[in-house]
Amino acid sequence: MSKHNTEIRIADWKTEKDSLKQIRQTVFIEEQKVPVELEWDEFDDSSTHFIATLEGQHIACARLKPDGQIGRMAVLAEHRNQGAGSKLLQFILRTAGRQKTCNVYLHAQVSAVLFYEKHGFTTTGDIFYEANIPHREMLRKIC
Ligand SMILES: CC(C)(COP(=O)(O)OP(=O)(O)OC[C@H]1O[C@@H](n2cnc3c(N)ncnc32)[C@H](O)[C@@H]1OP(=O)(O)O)[C@@H](O)C(=O)NCCC(=O)NCCS
Repeated sequence: MSKHNTEIRIADWKTEKDSLKQIRQTVFIEEQKVPVELEWDEFDDSSTHFIATLEGQHIACARLKPDGQIGRMAVLAEHRNQGAGSKLLQFILRTAGRQKTCNVYLHAQVSAVLFYEKHGFTTTGDIFYEANIPHREMLRKIC
């Protein structure tokens, strides 16, 4: 299925929590073995959340914290490498720009650094570990 059919929109954490949590449960907790207590934190309440839908099915999500951190980017395995992640990230960057959140950053899993570099992010600092997964901090100035 082409990326052009994937719809991205802002999601309301209070009313759409179950849909967002389902994607993160599948990708981070079940697939990547991230401990439950690390996955759910206090930042979900204050973040802007995003959800991607393809043919009525929720296939990806992410969040933008008020300080400019993009995180919890998750595309369901069967929908990867078809452009959904890129479309989601571009939507987040446009939203951040509108909010005048000009400096965005993220903690990229080392395996995904190339993906974010394709979207203009640059690495900074050394490798560090979160949930036993190697990460690099990446930055991008968007306005
Ligand atoms: C990382 C992730 C969000 C990318 O989403 P996606 O929908 O697969 O990405 P796209 O299809 O838009 O890929 C765009 C490009 O990045 C590349 N790419 C995607 N994932 C990549 C990865 N993990 N490593 C290197 N390159 C990657 C693709 O090959 C593609 O390249 P191309 O445009 O030259 O063909 C997705 O793989 C994912 O959810 N992974 C599991 C959870 C995760 O690791 N999240 C990131 C936490 S930092």
